[in-house]
Amino acid sequence: MKLNVVTREGVESVIEAAAGLTVMEALREGGADELLALCGGCCSCATCHVYVDPAFAGMLSPMSSDEDDLLESSDHRQPGSRLSCQIKLDDTLDGLKVKIAPED
Ligand code: FES
Repeated sequence: MKLNVVTREGVESVIEAAAGLTVMEALREGGADELLALCGGCCSCATCHVYVDPAFAGMLSPMSSDEDDLLESSDHRQPGSRLSCQIKLDDTLDGLKVKIAPED
């Protein structure tokens, strides 16, 4: 499946990702090094912050209160904000587009 990524500089690319990975894992495997993901996906660092394209907003599973709290601590929160380690890829999300949020 495909994952569309926009870097902080606005450069778009397409990553080939396996279903079952989280978006964070797919981004890291795809070479998006600017996504720090310091906690390794434990939902405790918020350095995997992305903006999900509005076209996909309704297709994601709802965020946990932990994720919500972490995003609330970011100066860059927007309506499409999610922690990419909390989004699991499945076939319904083929073509998902995310932009990497600025570092806090
Ligand atoms: S990798 Fe730390 S919260 Fe997602």
